[in-house]
Amino acid sequence: MNGAYLPFRSRSSRLFSTLVLHLLVIYVSVPFLVRLFPALLNKFVFLNILAFPFVELGKPELWLNHTVNFYLSPEPEVSIGVWHVLPASRGTEAQGKDHSWYEEALADDNPVIIYLHGSGGNRASGHRVSLMKALSGAGFHILALDYRGYGDSTGYPSETGFTTDALFLYDWVKAHSGNSTVAVWGHSLGSGVATNVARKLLEERGNQVDLIVLESAYTNIREAAAHIPFTKIYRQFPGFEYLVLDSMALGDMYFRSDENVKVLSSPLLILHAEDDPVLPAHLGQKLFEIALAAYENKDQVRLVSFPEQLGFAHENICSHPELPDIVKDFLKKFK
Ligand SMILES: *[C@@H]1O[C@H](CO)[C@@H](O)[C@H](O)[C@H]1NC(C)=O
Ligand SMILES: *[C@@H]1O[C@H](CO)[C@@H](O)[C@H](O)[C@H]1NC(C)=O
Repeated sequence: MNGAYLPFRSRSSRLFSTLVLHLLVIYVSVPFLVRLFPALLNKFVFLNILAFPFVELGKPELWLNHTVNFYLSPEPEVSIGVWHVLPASRGTEAQGKDHSWYEEALADDNPVIIYLHGSGGNRASGHRVSLMKALSGAGFHILALDYRGYGDSTGYPSETGFTTDALFLYDWVKAHSGNSTVAVWGHSLGSGVATNVARKLLEERGNQVDLIVLESAYTNIREAAAHIPFTKIYRQFPGFEYLVLDSMALGDMYFRSDENVKVLSSPLLILHAEDDPVLPAHLGQKLFEIALAAYENKDQVRLVSFPEQLGFAHENICSHPELPDIVKDFLKKFK
């Protein structure tokens, strides 16, 4: 056949082979690229560029009643956005009140939860708002931040930066919450931030967090990366461990909850859905077993698995009507 006339089918099949070739080149290049430029990998892990919902985070009343928005500055160049959701029981008296009233309300003896979200989105993402509503309805204060680089917070995302931000919020909460119980709750990627914070408080200051809740958690970021669906197409790729998994450390990402829980002694509640398609349930199970083996008081570690039939997957444990009671009952054993 000469080049002057190509029947449609042959042209489209040529297009198809070009496309396949391009995809193949991309497929093969990605692992080498992340090894060479581990900062690329941070973007995949943090997903902070997925900045939706594109919303006015300064107006939490669009999603939540009895909530104020404010900003903290953990470092000179960094401002982080925070929501304070009051216990719903105080909703009526909170109407029309300003931030300083909320600040005082934090010492009202209701338990406080510092919520550390997972990757992607911001503090207004649907499942996060649902959790805040459920916990507020059950009498908790919730302080929910966007780490640096997320939402309307400034700065660049990094594991140490997240830990600094969360620690700063913890200190702020402790300074305003009197003798109230203060829990640190991490979801998904945020579970690694939660254990980082708890370990730092313990090792550097001898402070014990009252309760740690790890929802849809993992052992460490390297192991998580080996199991998330995104890397599935690379698991058989020659050098996957060296090129992709080892690059996590080159990109300064560790999130070592498995190491952290070995030194902790705070009550530790691990929540995982058996049908979690992002971070498989065996990662939460493994973390639980590591903690259980290391804790002196075994009663302080609990794993609650949510059966597949409930369909909670990675983000919807918050929709379980008994979730607040699970947390309260566990807390009651230690307070
Ligand atoms: C606030 O509370 C009112 C009354 O209970 C309710 O109708 C409204 O939907 C709530 N607003 C939000 C944003 O949840
Ligand atoms: C906290 O508890 C201590 C000792 O029980 C008490 O002296 C103090 O007044 C309490 N602080 C607040 C803010 O309630």
